Amino acid sequence: MSIISIDDIHKNRFLINQHITVFGWIRNRRDSKCGISFLDLYDGSSIKTVQVIVNQSIFNYNTEVLRLTIGCSVCIDGRLVLSIGKKQKYEIQASKLMVIGWVDFPEKYPVAAKNHTYEYLREIPHLRSRTNFIGVITRIRNTMFHAMHHFLYKKKYYWIPTPIITSLDSEGAGAMFKVSTLDISNPPRQKDGLVDFKQDFFGKESFLTVSGQLTLESYACSMGKVYSFGPTFRAENSNTTRHLSEFWMLEVEQAFFDLNEISELSEQIIKYIINFVLKHCSNEMNFLQNKIDANIFQRLEKFLSSEIVHINYSDAIQILQDSDYNFKNPISMGMDLFSEHEKYLVDHYFFNAVFVKNFPKHLKAFYMKLNNDGHTVSSMDLLIPGIGEILGGSQREENKSILKNRLLELNLNKKDYSWYIDLRRYGSVPHSGFGLGFERLISYITGIYNVKDLIPFPRTINHALC
Ligand code: 4AD
Ligand code: MG
Repeated sequence: MSIISIDDIHKNRFLINQHITVFGWIRNRRDSKCGISFLDLYDGSSIKTVQVIVNQSIFNYNTEVLRLTIGCSVCIDGRLVLSIGKKQKYEIQASKLMVIGWVDFPEKYPVAAKNHTYEYLREIPHLRSRTNFIGVITRIRNTMFHAMHHFLYKKKYYWIPTPIITSLDSEGAGAMFKVSTLDISNPPRQKDGLVDFKQDFFGKESFLTVSGQLTLESYACSMGKVYSFGPTFRAENSNTTRHLSEFWMLEVEQAFFDLNEISELSEQIIKYIINFVLKHCSNEMNFLQNKIDANIFQRLEKFLSSEIVHINYSDAIQILQDSDYNFKNPISMGMDLFSEHEKYLVDHYFFNAVFVKNFPKHLKAFYMKLNNDGHTVSSMDLLIPGIGEILGGSQREENKSILKNRLLELNLNKKDYSWYIDLRRYGSVPHSGFGLGFERLISYITGIYNVKDLIPFPRTINHALC
C-alpha cells in the first residue's frame, strides 16, 4: 500500500490496477439508486479531482458514506482503475473509506457553493484556498517562486536574506510601518516632549522594510551578483487593485552593471518565469483561459516573442501630450506618470510592454545615479499591458560626493546613511538593480487584476484578516 497524491494519479499510468491510499476532501457526492456513490476528491495537488466509487457493501456505507458533504476529509483505500465514464480517465474503486473530519452544519459551509465573488472570498481568507480558483493561483505562485530561484541559481546569483526590520527609509518616501515595544499609550519622552526611542527595543526608531535594496547593495559590492526575495511593507494610502500593504518583491543587484544591462536581465527573468509557468502549469492555465481570460495564451506568447520597448521619460511625456486622449490628470513635463498614463502608453500606443527610462531626479529616490545632464537619473520603470508599473530599478549613484549632495537636497540625515556611503568610500563600483512586484507579475500572468486575490492573506488599509 502506498500513499499517493491525486496529481500522481493523473500523471503515473503505472499506478493502474494497484492498491492505493488517498487522503483528501470531498468536492462532490452523487448517489445512484443501485447502492453506489460517486465521490469527487481533491487534495490540493492538482486542479483535477479523482472519482471514487463506493459500493454499499462497504460496512459504513449507510452510516457514513451517505452522510458525506462537501468539505469532509476522508482517507480512501482502493484500487485505481481506468474509468469507463467519459468525464474522467481514472477512478478509485474503494475498499475502505474512513471519515477523518466531518463538516459542522453542512448547509452553512462557507465555501460549499461553486461560484463565489472575489469580494466574498476575501472575507474568508482562511477558507478560500478550498476553492478551485485559489488552488490554481496557489500552484501558479509556487511555480513562479521556483522559476525565479531556478533562473538566478543557474546564473550564479546569491540569495541574500535582507532584514525585515530596519532603521532606514530605503526609498526616502516615508510610507513605513513602525516597529516598537514602547507602551503606545504612554511612551517615554525626551525633555522636548518627543518620544524617546533610545528606550525602545532597538535603541532607535525602527520600521518594517519598504525595500531590501540598500543592504543588498552592500553584498553586491563584495559578492557581485545578488538578490533578495521577501515580504515588503508599505503604509501607503493607496486602495487600488495594484497595491498591498504587504507584498513580495524580488530585488536583484549586480556590480559592474549599468542600466541597460540590468533592464535586459530583468526582461530575461520575467520571460523565464512566464515560460516556466506555461510549461509546468498547463492545467491551471487552461482553467484561467476558460474562466478569466480567453486570450491568455496569445497574450503571453505575444509578450514572450516581442522585445520590450525602451523610451526615455521625456519621450513618454511627449507622446502623452500629443495624444487626443482625455486624461483625468493632464500631463506635463516634470510630472510623475499616473496609472492612466502608464496604461495609455502600453495599451493604446505601443501595444507592448515599455521600459520608461531616465526620469527627472525629483521624481525618484536619492540613490539613483545622476545623469550627465544633471537633472535626470539613470532609472527605469517597466510598464506592462493591463497593469502598468511592474518593476522599478536604476543604476546606483557610486560617487560619494554626488550621493551626499542628493541626501542633502532631499533633507535626509547623512549620519543615518553613513554605512551606505562607506560602500562608495571603499572600492566603489558602478552597480545597478531592480525590484519586481511579485503579485503584479502574477496578475499579469493570470489575468486576475486585483492583487488582493493573488496573495494568501492580503493586507490593505482597514483589512488584515487572520
Ligand atoms: O518601484 P519600487 O518602489 O522600487 C523599489 O522599492 C526599489 N528599491 C527596487 C530596487 O531597485 N531594488 O517598487 C518595486 C516594485 C514596483 O514596481 C511594483 O511592482 C511593486 O514593487 N510594488 C508594489 N506591489 C504591490 N503593492 C504595493 N504597495 C507596491 N509598491 C511597489
Ligand atoms: Mg516604482
